[in-house]
Amino acid sequence: MKKLVALLLTTVMAMTMLTACGGSEAATTESADGVASAALADGVLTVGTNAEFPPFEYVGDDGQPDGFDMALVKAIGEKLGVEVKIENMEFASLVTSIGSKIDIAAAGMTVTEERKETVDFSNPYYEAVQYVVLPADSAIATAADLEGKTIGVQLGTTGDFIATDIPGSTVSSYNKAVDAVNDLVNGKVDCVIIDKNPALVFESKFEGQVVAVDGAQFEFEIENYAIALPKGDTVLAEQINTAIEELKADGTFDELVKTYIEAE
Ligand code: ARG
Repeated sequence: MKKLVALLLTTVMAMTMLTACGGSEAATTESADGVASAALADGVLTVGTNAEFPPFEYVGDDGQPDGFDMALVKAIGEKLGVEVKIENMEFASLVTSIGSKIDIAAAGMTVTEERKETVDFSNPYYEAVQYVVLPADSAIATAADLEGKTIGVQLGTTGDFIATDIPGSTVSSYNKAVDAVNDLVNGKVDCVIIDKNPALVFESKFEGQVVAVDGAQFEFEIENYAIALPKGDTVLAEQINTAIEELKADGTFDELVKTYIEAE
């Protein structure tokens, strides 16, 4: 009888240990201290973007999202040993889709206090500022000149927030920034407020028709781009920050800047 009880006890203990270990079996990537992020448990990093924002993201000739951010997240995926899947969606849906449709978002996204209430951010990887895109013959030149104007923006962007705060402004928001610029050319809006690099891309795309003016002239503040992450997933944040640091240290990051941003 004693023997039987002992045997039963051993069996129960063994089973408990097995169950305890089973929980972490699905994880494929782990941080330095051996903790795994749930976001990577399936071996896939699903990255949300809005490919309407050259040179950071745009739809390439093959119909797939391309650009600086896409190359960056693919390089991060390689470092983490996971497959990277890109989901192209509306910019305004990105933040709320993290944790459901997507794991993270890479979309030239500016770190803001408001977004930080819903998501965490990686360390910033690029500095930006809003620019004002104007018809070539526009008289708009100062912050005061923007008051009471009709301003085109991409929905849910920091350009949208700035335009909304300008006294007397009427804000026309578009899902695609290029549509705002088209309406500028058609005379439907007085200016477009959008980030520096896309503004410069549009200036060359609509050469002679529009000019892109530095937001410093309108007292706009410096912004920082970062990858948006699930709130509270400090393990994933650490892994992504480490990967970005490594890509900076080994020169990959600078190569991507040269290829995608400075080549524009
Ligand atoms: N930096 C701006 C923001 O965070 C605009 C980003 C737009 N990005 C895009 N992929 N459409 O609001």
